Amino acid sequence: MADDGDRPARIIHAALPHDSARKHVSGEAIYTDDLPEPPGLLHAWILTSPRAHARIVSIDTSQVDGPGVFVMTAADIPGRNDVGPIHGGEPVLAHGIVEYVGQPVLAVAAASIRAAREAAERAVVVYENLPPMLSIEEAWQKESYVSPPHTMARGDVNAGLARAPHRLSGELRIGGQDHFYLEGQVAMALPQEDGDMLVLSSTQHPTEVQKMVAQVLGRPMNAVTVEVRRMGGGFGGKETQPAIFAAIAAVLATKARRPVKLRLDRDDDMMITGKRHDFLARYEAGYDDEGRLLALDMALAARAGHVADLSPAIVDRAMFHADNCYHIEDVRISGFACKTNTQSNTAFRGFGGPQGMLAIENVIDEIARSLGKDPLAVRKLNFYGTDTRNVTPYHQTVEDNIVHDIVAELEQSAEYAKRRVEIEAFNRASPILKKGLALTPVKFGISFTATHYNQAGALVHVYTDGSVHLNHGGTEMGQGLFTKVAQIVADEFQIDYSQVKITATSTGKVPNTSATAASSGTDLNGMAALAAARTIRQRLAEFAAGHWRVPVDAVRFSQGRVSAGAESLSFAELAELAYKARIQLSATGFYRTPKVHYDRATARGRPFYYFAYGAAVAEAIVDTLTGEYRCLRADLLHDAGKSINPAIDMGQIEGGFIQGVGWLTTEELWWDHDGRLRTHAPSTYKIPVARDLPPDFRVRILERAANREETIHRSKAVGEPPLMLANAVWFALKDAVGAAVDHRVVPRLCAPATPEAVLMAIEDAKRRAAQPLPLAASGE
Ligand code: MTE
Ligand code: MOS
Repeated sequence: MADDGDRPARIIHAALPHDSARKHVSGEAIYTDDLPEPPGLLHAWILTSPRAHARIVSIDTSQVDGPGVFVMTAADIPGRNDVGPIHGGEPVLAHGIVEYVGQPVLAVAAASIRAAREAAERAVVVYENLPPMLSIEEAWQKESYVSPPHTMARGDVNAGLARAPHRLSGELRIGGQDHFYLEGQVAMALPQEDGDMLVLSSTQHPTEVQKMVAQVLGRPMNAVTVEVRRMGGGFGGKETQPAIFAAIAAVLATKARRPVKLRLDRDDDMMITGKRHDFLARYEAGYDDEGRLLALDMALAARAGHVADLSPAIVDRAMFHADNCYHIEDVRISGFACKTNTQSNTAFRGFGGPQGMLAIENVIDEIARSLGKDPLAVRKLNFYGTDTRNVTPYHQTVEDNIVHDIVAELEQSAEYAKRRVEIEAFNRASPILKKGLALTPVKFGISFTATHYNQAGALVHVYTDGSVHLNHGGTEMGQGLFTKVAQIVADEFQIDYSQVKITATSTGKVPNTSATAASSGTDLNGMAALAAARTIRQRLAEFAAGHWRVPVDAVRFSQGRVSAGAESLSFAELAELAYKARIQLSATGFYRTPKVHYDRATARGRPFYYFAYGAAVAEAIVDTLTGEYRCLRADLLHDAGKSINPAIDMGQIEGGFIQGVGWLTTEELWWDHDGRLRTHAPSTYKIPVARDLPPDFRVRILERAANREETIHRSKAVGEPPLMLANAVWFALKDAVGAAVDHRVVPRLCAPATPEAVLMAIEDAKRRAAQPLPLAASGE
């Protein structure tokens, strides 16, 4: 085990820069599209469906064909036309029917993208319209699902609601989000001997691309090798979605017997690929005079899109986070993955968790406002206890609760109470501009909820000059995984970090891997790499002990040297000697997460090894005449356990937060009545830029926070949880909307809180405040 004692913070726990940081900014980092193009390379383009739902009457490609032009329709697929990751039945190319605007219908490879596009557009596809299902409401009402509804429950929600002194019910609409990775989807397929295929893919999940390409080609998995050195961002959008593009490139390459590259431009990427799920949450809550949440009945309905993809698991994770930090005695949470004629929504940082969390935070906020209390006081009242009141709706006991400490520390350092008073004074004196303040906590479950994914492998070689070659199943998408795992290996050998060579992920080196997802990349691959390095270190120690005739435990590895008493060799000298003595200097490592188990049928178990925590305070100012706003200050305090690399973790915290701010404020996806996504480029889809950072931005990593579980060097996963710190910004905006009517009614705000949405919420609050309604009338 990775005991952590007092390791020198020279390598592990050190704020080393990302291994590719310089290359990222100088442009030297090589992405899939930058790889040298092999001779004879063809470029592919995809023709997509202009209809949301239609029968394909005929496809005529007679005008497409030409010299050097290769066409592919569903009929050209040698194996199965299916890239469904869990459920199957998810076509590469439409067959017989199209189910959303943007669905790939046929693909063409030619000498250039332009030539491929011009040829593809000569295809004549005849459609016959079918009625489309475009909204969550309609799909939910008609029980159109991609998987059966699912429920988690504890206690007796009906009795709990009946007993509760107060009740409120309501609805919250939560928007989706495009991944907007800077590098779009791309794959290059290179035919090998015997019909084998090498695929270079921008993917978080090389094994799945391998499996799907093999399945589509009708070949065994050992005929396909998938490699990825790095992605220009994935954010979940490259967990399953790359398979279609890799499969198309591979089929065309097989057909043409030439390498084929398929790189989407931004508009096509946004039209074709799935996004974060938008959700509709409906809830009924029972509470007491203090604001204690006694009973909750919550339904979470998501827009899954036309096929399941990962939607069932994403709706599950939304349900797993519909408690956030709060104990609820009697609770029922139901999830619905609604089938709609839109893009197949997919993983996105938080994987449904953010949507579930926003919904429960909104319930707590409404309870507080209906009682005229500060929402922070009501939040604290409802926190899970440390020894009692600590069982979740899925029957996992929260054993590592540190939310009380984090919130107390942040409340102090951000001067919440003082600023609350100042903001009230400001608002009294300011008729048009109104300020809002909010503190929201985060508790995020770490592990794949499908238990079997919680495994990883690694491969480490030590060469005779003491340099090390490191490989594992994780992928690098900018999050710093490769840097962290290299730190772990360098630390284990006690050699310089620069002696460890980071190499591309390849299905030929480490097989049967899980997606780099669920924030578990370092937890899993770090442990697997540690196990491999430890095996070699043990062999070296035994060899050195024999060589020097000392006991094995007398052999020390420190600062590039191996020694015992007066004997000492450099790591390189020892490697050379060991090689000559025929000691194996290569090893694999494997890890599986302990303690996790979950029975979905009964919705009980321990899906999460541990929880990562955090909290944020945000202050916003709103122009009540236009709805325009700005987040003026944000204070974040985040739990990264005992951070393996505080510099990288800081980047994840800041980046996750601002990505969350984009989701909750400016990033709006908008489909027209025909189901056409009209926000498919940066001109119409607004992601945050530098100016959207709060001018006063104070970010800290929680100190003295070693993981209570035996994770890699007692760190905690940090990839996704900080995104949810952005909830504070949304609630600060909601608070400012409330201030516009002196908090006389409970505001109703949706996400994203675009300036337009904020303005409508203010108008709505003003209308309701003008009517003689009781304060507690929120959303009924
Ligand atoms: N950070 C960067 N820079 N780019 C990314 O694509 N993806 C996020 C997060 N941080 C992402 C990122 C998502 S969705 C996940 S699940 C984790 O990184 C995956 O990596 P990890 O498990 O190594 O943290
Ligand atoms: Mo992250 S959404 O688990 O790829």
